[in-house]
Amino acid sequence: MLSAESLKQIDTELAKYPADRHRSAIMGALRIAQTEKGWLTPETIEFVADYIGIPPVQAYEVATFYNMYDLKPVGKYKLTVCTNLPCALRGGVDAGEYLKKKLGIGYGETTPDGKFTLVEGECMGACGDAPVMLLNNHKMCSFMTEEAIEAKLAELG
Ligand code: FES
Repeated sequence: MLSAESLKQIDTELAKYPADRHRSAIMGALRIAQTEKGWLTPETIEFVADYIGIPPVQAYEVATFYNMYDLKPVGKYKLTVCTNLPCALRGGVDAGEYLKKKLGIGYGETTPDGKFTLVEGECMGACGDAPVMLLNNHKMCSFMTEEAIEAKLAELG
């Protein structure tokens, strides 16, 4: 279900916690599984729960609460635009609208070629760099003016 490399990474997460607190590793374990699989199917969530020794429902609680976990397929590049107040005051909403127009999709949608998924996100704790955008849940992109968006899209090809 998961590669030996992913299982090794999950073992590293598990080692961070006492044996009776292994459920604390669920966030990291789901992140590792998603990085390998691209998104989290119910089978993957249940496999991860079983691997770390918790009931599946506890893994679902986490996977469905945080929007960094993808419960359906996403494009090669997932762009999450922050539109919370500090970002909104510095062009976050405009950045989202620009991306919608540019990519021809709305929030929660994926381009027909499977390349980009656009998501509206919550504050990412990087308000000083507003407006910000998160690439594939891991890479923060700062000061996303129209020019910066153009440069980023060109970089992604
Ligand atoms: S409001 Fe956008 S990062 Fe905080």
